[in-house]
Amino acid sequence: MSLLRLFAILLVGALPVLAQPQKYTIAVIPKGTTHEYWKSIHAGAVKAQRELAAAGIAVDLIWKGPLKEDDREQQVQVVENFIGRRVDGIVLAPLDNRALVAPVETAVRGKIPVVIIDSGLVSSAPISYVATDNREGGRIAARNLGRLLGGKGSAIMLRYAIGSASTEEREEGFLEVMQHDFPGIKLLSTDQHAGATRDSAKRTAENLLSRYGAQVNGVFACNESSAAGMLLALRDAGLAGGKVKFVAFDSGETLNAGLKAGDVQGLVVQNPLNMGYLGVKSVVAVLRGEKVPARIDTGVGFVTNDNFDDPAMADIVHPPLDQYLK
Ligand code: BDR
Repeated sequence: MSLLRLFAILLVGALPVLAQPQKYTIAVIPKGTTHEYWKSIHAGAVKAQRELAAAGIAVDLIWKGPLKEDDREQQVQVVENFIGRRVDGIVLAPLDNRALVAPVETAVRGKIPVVIIDSGLVSSAPISYVATDNREGGRIAARNLGRLLGGKGSAIMLRYAIGSASTEEREEGFLEVMQHDFPGIKLLSTDQHAGATRDSAKRTAENLLSRYGAQVNGVFACNESSAAGMLLALRDAGLAGGKVKFVAFDSGETLNAGLKAGDVQGLVVQNPLNMGYLGVKSVVAVLRGEKVPARIDTGVGFVTNDNFDDPAMADIVHPPLDQYLK
């Protein structure tokens, strides 16, 4: 066989790989950049970037989100800017399940694949949804708060924000189990929203405790900032230390410390590092012509002082952020 013929055969065989760009620009857009939670998402994205690089696939990762999780206009603008920059793919945690539909559908029409992480979007355009089963997370919160109250007494649920699909599903799951399995527990308030910051959450929680503090036996707050604000308000009102049973959602320095101090009785926890990791891996896989599942469930668990130090919980309650974000 002539050298020329051999070379031609080798070249044709290599074409599929040579035809694919070996460098992708991926935008990762969190709901906001003030909560600890998003650092784990970012770390997971970097973990995927490093793993892909080791496989010879270079990913230029751009991390950019609104400062606050109620700034719909800013998150829409961030998505639109990345469309204008013709990034290869987008990984997005939409802070509003409807306000982000239009820019996402514009991206997909422009052949920029979008993977949604953390919180749902009312659209079939994204190629995958990588998140916690948040409704089940809310059910887990209710089952444990109901158990802690012995099935009787009164409780408050502190909501987060209208349009935040992840937390609205938790709130629905919590109410479903409370109303179905714990008829002996009176729900004093279930319609107050904490808003996007720990400070706004604290103010809402202070108002609730000034009104119901003498009656309330248990509280559920459905995300990191709402729970941190409620924790501060319970302490200020002298209702911490287990006087009021407190089940929170998410982990993080403040909530982990609250658990250790006995001011929080349980944390419903997620795996944001894995969400960021699988979000980036999925969008690159699609760009390389591979199939990805439409829905990836990244898991949900319940942490108390009894299992906080379990090795299985280590990456959840103490995510290795420095390994990826330094
Ligand atoms: C976000 O924080 C996390 O609990 C959630 O997954 C949610 O999307 C809201 O601040």
